[in-house]
Amino acid sequence: MSKSFQHLFPSSYELCYLNHAAMAPWSTLVSEAVAAFAQENAVIGARDYHLWMQRETELRQRFAALLNAQADDIALLKNTTEGLCVVAQGLPWQAGDNIVIPDCEFPSNHLPWATLQSQGVELRCIDVHVENPEQALQNACDQRTRLLAVSAIQYADGLRLHLDKLGAFCKASDILFCVDAIQQVGMLPVDVHACQIDFLSADAHKWMLGPEGLAVFYTHPDVRGNLQLRQSGWRQMDNPFQFQRDSWEPSDSARRFEAGSPNMLGIVATHAALGLLLDIGMQTVAEQAMANANYLRDQLAQRDTVELMGSTAPERCSAIVNFRPRKVLPSTLYRDLRKADVITALRGEGLRLSPHFYQNTDVLDTALQQIDRILAGGH
Ligand SMILES: Cc1ncc(COP(=O)(O)O)c(C=O)c1O
Repeated sequence: MSKSFQHLFPSSYELCYLNHAAMAPWSTLVSEAVAAFAQENAVIGARDYHLWMQRETELRQRFAALLNAQADDIALLKNTTEGLCVVAQGLPWQAGDNIVIPDCEFPSNHLPWATLQSQGVELRCIDVHVENPEQALQNACDQRTRLLAVSAIQYADGLRLHLDKLGAFCKASDILFCVDAIQQVGMLPVDVHACQIDFLSADAHKWMLGPEGLAVFYTHPDVRGNLQLRQSGWRQMDNPFQFQRDSWEPSDSARRFEAGSPNMLGIVATHAALGLLLDIGMQTVAEQAMANANYLRDQLAQRDTVELMGSTAPERCSAIVNFRPRKVLPSTLYRDLRKADVITALRGEGLRLSPHFYQNTDVLDTALQQIDRILAGGH
């Protein structure tokens, strides 16, 4: 029997919250850290700013621990999209270059590359819902491919790509490898070194159980300098508080991507959120999140009222489960579940359920009972 962490999440007593792939509820650790920070700001302002900066440093270390990176490789940006835009707008593109992406990406990992088409860069969108998605992506690359950009896990149906295979291919082919990891960091371990990732971006508000507006942006030191900086400011220097100086060289570290004052409120919340994940350990978190998702998948597969969407191959599955009711519209089921306090999302062709590690089976059973009741025409 795995340890329960449900008591740390007050939402567990209000709702069946199966929507971590959109936005997570906060634990009491996060809400208490934010409340304490609000109180501190009200009472003593930024008197102890040096302690805030210590927490900021610790947050970089926590992100680095989660990704198997170094703290110097971590920039704190405002969302996943911003990190991907730093790459798209920073690389020196030439007309005739091409970028390869899956054809089902969330807009964050499509639009930053699509805008480069006006510079003559070709965007190749590849079907990854095939037997060997990594091979399909590789087959789309050629001599002019500069970048392969994928979501680690697809947002709609939870399809998981083998990042290690893609990274090895990119390395051997001299192609840059960029990962939108918002649907994986905090759900399953991520290892930027093992997967030879050049750039990675992920906001904290999903599986990391943090707030919106604070994202990790990882850059490998060997390619960081390839990104031309599109923003300039005092914070991107080493020793940023030295305001009088002869030279204004941005830091070699990933802090070069942070131009101005940090999102301290977001840092407080994310610091607390990652503290929980690291204390428990990503292996345990991943096992429990997957056990919950697999339970939902197994239970839904036994019902003839619904059809499971997406791959069921274990190495392709994640904690995102997508299914479609056979006799009513997904939107009808979504609406009725919401009325019964079961929070899901409409994504792709079906309903997306995304449980996290801390939830007990009784929450999942309640959701399944409500699905059965609604599909049986119950009121
Ligand atoms: C794969 C993926 N990328 C990015 C985002 C969101 O990006 P941002 O953090 O910029 O809001 C989402 C949100 O649903 C997503 O599923």
